[in-house]
Amino acid sequence: MEKINIKTVKEEAYSIYIERGMLSNLGGYLIKLTEKKSRVVVITNPLVKALYGVTLCSALKEGEFEVVFIEVPDGERYKSLSTANHLYDELIKRKADRHTLLVALGGGVIGDLTGFVAATYMRGLPLVHIPTTLLAQIDSSVGGKVAVDHHLAKNMIGSFYHPRAVFTDPEVLSTLSDKDLKNGIVEAVKIAVISSPAFFEWLEENLSRLLEKDRDLLSELIKEAVNLKVDIVLEDPREKGLRRLLNFGHSIGHALEAEVGYQTLSHGEAVALGMLVESRIARQRGQCSEELETKIRQILSFLYTSLPLPSSSSSSLSKEESIFEYIKNIDYYSFWETLTLDKKNYQGRMTFILPQALGKVSPVEDITFEEVVKALEELKKE
Ligand SMILES: NC(=O)c1ccc[n+]([C@@H]2O[C@H](COP(=O)([O-])OP(=O)(O)OC[C@H]3O[C@@H](n4cnc5c(N)ncnc54)[C@H](O)[C@@H]3O)[C@@H](O)[C@H]2O)c1
Ligand SMILES: [Zn+2]
Repeated sequence: MEKINIKTVKEEAYSIYIERGMLSNLGGYLIKLTEKKSRVVVITNPLVKALYGVTLCSALKEGEFEVVFIEVPDGERYKSLSTANHLYDELIKRKADRHTLLVALGGGVIGDLTGFVAATYMRGLPLVHIPTTLLAQIDSSVGGKVAVDHHLAKNMIGSFYHPRAVFTDPEVLSTLSDKDLKNGIVEAVKIAVISSPAFFEWLEENLSRLLEKDRDLLSELIKEAVNLKVDIVLEDPREKGLRRLLNFGHSIGHALEAEVGYQTLSHGEAVALGMLVESRIARQRGQCSEELETKIRQILSFLYTSLPLPSSSSSSLSKEESIFEYIKNIDYYSFWETLTLDKKNYQGRMTFILPQALGKVSPVEDITFEEVVKALEELKKE
């Protein structure tokens, strides 16, 4: 088992445990974290409950916990204050107190929402994450950010709130959709570009087997990606500097999601396009070589072309064009307006994270409308 310790401040120290099959043995781990017979409230959605509710419930009962499940509907639109409010009602009805352990069983939506409720109900309940999507396992469960969306902007209302532990079981990825698998792999590519040439190479070598859900490789990916994110988060727990680097691909990516529509474009596709556009801007500025841009582009186009198995490079090209379709009808003025709303902009200056070399990205704070349009125009023509 991989055990990754996170020590922010003393009272917030916790570990991320990564082990295949650990969901069935969770009772034993939880006993070490909390009092025996404590009350546990599991927050999840109907899909994840149907898949893993029984396994988790029997594991918790073996640990002699009193278990209650509360379900919220599936989907980003339920990561809201009104769902949080519904959860407060349910917790009050069930007389949850400061000793009640909240367990988030699900993807990033459930993790962010449950974390937000745990941070705010009675000024803080103990929290455990059991992330069940690849994105949640390598990204959203790492680093203590919790939030709900505001109708005008995503993740606008939130906090930093650390769990008592994160229990990551790679086995649950067996049921994940291809789209959600890719959403997670794109985040792995992102962290590799930001901080590890070796991990990037490893991803290049193993991508087709990862797409086939080779469980050993997925476990390795999770361990490596979590370690890399932890290194960054520990240096900058409150996102004052270094942690902003994790935004590579996301300035353009988030704006594309907002412009094209969340239903049409997956987060992975948006971030993949974001990395491509941002790499092109970096190249136009002479900050990134053509070779680096090509490397990033190759791995991403492979990802969006090759299910179940990669075929010839010509079919790669045609499918790659299809993700470029999304940028074809963008209204540049409205797109720029959306970009200016990004929380990550610094003192009103448009800030992007641009790549310089594998393992090296840096913030650039004077991005202009003209260069964004130029990069989009060039990519549209390719
Ligand atoms: N807190 C952070 O630092 C952080 C970082 C990145 C993303 N996020 C947030 O994460 C959210 C996205 O998370 P996500 O991509 O996991 O989406 P999600 O939570 O919506 O999950 C995607 C889909 O997968 C289903 N699912 C979950 N586990 C499954 C399993 N094992 N098998 C089959 N289906 C399963 C879900 O029910 C859902 O339909 C966004 O709200 C984003 O803002 C937060
Ligand atoms: Zn992301």
